[in-house]
Amino acid sequence: MSADELLANARAIVAPGKGILAADESTPTIKKRFDGIGVESTEENRRLYRELLFTTEGAEKYISGVILFDETLRQNGTDGQPFPKVLQQAGILPGIKVDKGAKPLAGAPGEKVTEGLDGLRERCKEYYGLGARFTKWRAVIAIGDGLPSDYCIQANAHALARFAALSVENGLVPIVEPEVLMDGAHTIDTCFEVTERTLREVYRALRDQSVPLDQTLLKPNMVLSGKDCPQQAGPEEVAEKTVACLKSGVPEAVPGIVFLSGGQSDVEATVNLNAMNKIGGVPWQLSFSYGRALQAPPLKAWGGKAHNAAATQKAFLHRARCNGAARFGKYTDALEQEAA
Ligand code: 13P
Repeated sequence: MSADELLANARAIVAPGKGILAADESTPTIKKRFDGIGVESTEENRRLYRELLFTTEGAEKYISGVILFDETLRQNGTDGQPFPKVLQQAGILPGIKVDKGAKPLAGAPGEKVTEGLDGLRERCKEYYGLGARFTKWRAVIAIGDGLPSDYCIQANAHALARFAALSVENGLVPIVEPEVLMDGAHTIDTCFEVTERTLREVYRALRDQSVPLDQTLLKPNMVLSGKDCPQQAGPEEVAEKTVACLKSGVPEAVPGIVFLSGGQSDVEATVNLNAMNKIGGVPWQLSFSYGRALQAPPLKAWGGKAHNAAATQKAFLHRARCNGAARFGKYTDALEQEAA
């Protein structure tokens, strides 16, 4: 596998003005989303919904890559073309979630470790053959009484580094995702401290395992107040603290940072990304890899009805466009209002 291909793909994913659509919900997670709009989660409904997103005309101006779930990578569009090909033809890189989910971490009540390393080399080879060019692995770190433990952070960092090394070995750009959850009543400063500790440990593990950082991307949480914290930080503080935390924890060699939305509303996720890009002055591209923040409006517009196809795509394109503007710090209320 050539390093040049990995470098070029990593840079293409974080090309200015563009970001990632995370459409890699596992079967139980997409069922939850479909339950929310009263649609049965059948394989065909999942295919139909995702096809609407993937074939939205103009989305390729703002979307550089789409993260798929195993089932979706193997599905075809209505015209019979495999989804990875549909995306490639639109100039969008297909990616694949390769982790097998966060499971209880033995000996650490309330904490989790992400599984999926066994057989990963073979799966990466197969995914490359099916057209995937990047991978994602999500680790979750919970904040709570005495949590996270160093043990939990280390176990997850080690797994993230093993995943990253195997992805690079097989020509796939790894998106390293250590998510510090926003659940809880903690302050933004606690989130800062835990995120910094986590990032440092993740990059220690990546270096220990000789992962070439310039061929990887980071998908972190933003530094936010806990969901139930009475003192909610505004976008300027979130942006300042997130940028400071990244400067302290992320090596310059990493080409880009693609934030997760993690339970922020769609508009909050855009406003916060915009505020960070207004600050600027960082060595990495600051981009997005949003699931819920890109999909909540189109999912609602769709409601499982074929006659809502145009409205679904319009809602998706609008969020993509707003986040594309936030990549330059140029998102405005006026742009937000243009939805109608
Ligand atoms: P959210 O943006 O909904 O957090 O999803 C992104 C993702 O891919 C989580 O792994």
